[in-house]
Amino acid sequence: MGVAGPVLAHCRVVEHAEITAPGLLLRPWRVEDAPAVLDALREPAIARWNPRRRVTDDLAGARDWIRYRADWSGGDHVSLAVTSAADGVLLGSVSLHQIHGEDASIGYWTVPAARGAGVASRAVVALTTWAFAELRLHRVELCHAVDNPASCRVAERAGYRAEGTLREAFRYGDGLRHDEHLHARLATDA
Ligand SMILES: CC(C)(COP(=O)(O)OP(=O)(O)OC[C@H]1O[C@@H](n2cnc3c(N)ncnc32)[C@H](O)[C@@H]1OP(=O)(O)O)[C@@H](O)C(=O)NCCC(=O)NCCS
Repeated sequence: MGVAGPVLAHCRVVEHAEITAPGLLLRPWRVEDAPAVLDALREPAIARWNPRRRVTDDLAGARDWIRYRADWSGGDHVSLAVTSAADGVLLGSVSLHQIHGEDASIGYWTVPAARGAGVASRAVVALTTWAFAELRLHRVELCHAVDNPASCRVAERAGYRAEGTLREAFRYGDGLRHDEHLHARLATDA
């Protein structure tokens, strides 16, 4: 699979990107990531706190997942694999989705072995900073289930201010609609 295509974002065309953060390299997804993606998508917490979807239960499904995320040509998303800068091991996923005009939303997960080491927080900060500079976004929203306190900590650590609670706002992987916290960062935030 080649690198991702250009993104038509707010008055600019942005080619695929690699972004660095302390100890991390955020890079476009590759078809070779499929076995690691399959393991991750089967992991109970990731399966629970992501959108309900057709179960990705084989390598073909993982390759489809990657193909969508590696194709940025629609201009509506930027999806990156979060890898260890030291050895290239896949640690997680971070993506901007619903990109429209100066706005977008951000989502993420990390594999169990990488959790609790600041990986998600650093990846979210790095992609947000890049999006303000390169995509000229003004506001990025981050929503997480109220029942997912680890994700709330990621939002806080990444500078996403809490703006309120959205009642039964999203149907997650467990098939239930959950209340969500809405957080957001503005390009003008300190
Ligand atoms: C949420 C998730 C992305 C966090 O990834 P991570 O790389 O461990 O995140 P970080 O290390 O940057 O920060 C995790 C924070 O959550 C805290 N945390 C972890 N488990 C927690 C829990 N059960 N309750 C409260 N806080 C918790 C950690 O202590 C840390 O905060 P601190 O630095 O203030 O101590 C990861 O657990 C995950 O992938 N979960 C499943 C998928 C998911 O929830 N994705 C987000 C959907 S909105």
